[in-house]
Amino acid sequence: MDLDQPDTWPPTLDRIEQVFFVGDARPRFAETSGALAAAARRAGARRLVKLSAFGADFAPEFLIAGSHRALDQAIEASGIAWTHLRPNVWMQNLVKYDHEPIRREGRFQLIQGGRQGELHRPAERLTVLTRPGHEAKVYTLTGPQALTYADAARLLSQATGGRIIHVPLTEEEAPPARPCGRGPGIPGEGPRTMDAFGCSGRFARVTPDLERLAEPKPIIFERFARDHAKAYQP
Ligand SMILES: NC(=O)c1ccc[n+]([C@@H]2O[C@H](COP(=O)([O-])OP(=O)(O)OC[C@H]3O[C@@H](n4cnc5c(N)ncnc54)[C@H](OP(=O)(O)O)[C@@H]3O)[C@@H](O)[C@H]2O)c1
Repeated sequence: MDLDQPDTWPPTLDRIEQVFFVGDARPRFAETSGALAAAARRAGARRLVKLSAFGADFAPEFLIAGSHRALDQAIEASGIAWTHLRPNVWMQNLVKYDHEPIRREGRFQLIQGGRQGELHRPAERLTVLTRPGHEAKVYTLTGPQALTYADAARLLSQATGGRIIHVPLTEEEAPPARPCGRGPGIPGEGPRTMDAFGCSGRFARVTPDLERLAEPKPIIFERFARDHAKAYQP
């Protein structure tokens, strides 16, 4: 289904009991989120589980966090039972966005953040959320450790047997207006990215929520680096 095309929603929502909503964090999705939640409710869905973002509750001044907060509020206002998942930064970003520069040059460039929590494949691992008892709950999902990008570079180096370094960028050096510090920009939004959020040190929180909800248990970055070592080899 296309979130921008409401006429594509009904066939997807037909006979659906629960919706797991993953979108991007464009502010325009707030209206869409509310409309989708209302359509799901009308179609008979019992609950909508929304993939939100770390900081949506306490740091709305940062682009992604603030956008997700608006999306989440629109869902809550729709009247459907909801659960919000608020993950910290994903390990997979370092494969999805950074494996090419690492493979080519042995380095990746990101704003130097504070320590960041870790997460591994949240959607696959949270089958517990198909069970009842999670209505009107917010889960803040982090891995078991807080790491810096320098820590990640060291662990990737160990796993690959090569030398991988993190090149810290200042907020001024980073390309502006990129949600999550990458991808297409949101015009006029400025550099209030999640990486800037990381710089504030506010990513460093580690919570027990993922450990409690995930089956099997979340892995640590060292294991992730070993599992994905091939992606970084020249
Ligand atoms: N990456 C992180 O570290 C991180 C951390 C916390 C929260 N999050 C949040 O998790 C969500 C996914 O993040 P991501 O990093 O995987 O971002 P992403 O790669 O940009 O994924 C965006 C998702 O939204 C879907 N989407 C976008 N426009 C759509 C449309 N018009 N109709 C239907 N689906 C649409 C995409 O579907 P297609 O794949 O079909 O295009 C994709 O599944 C975002 O809301 C992000 O803010 C990410």
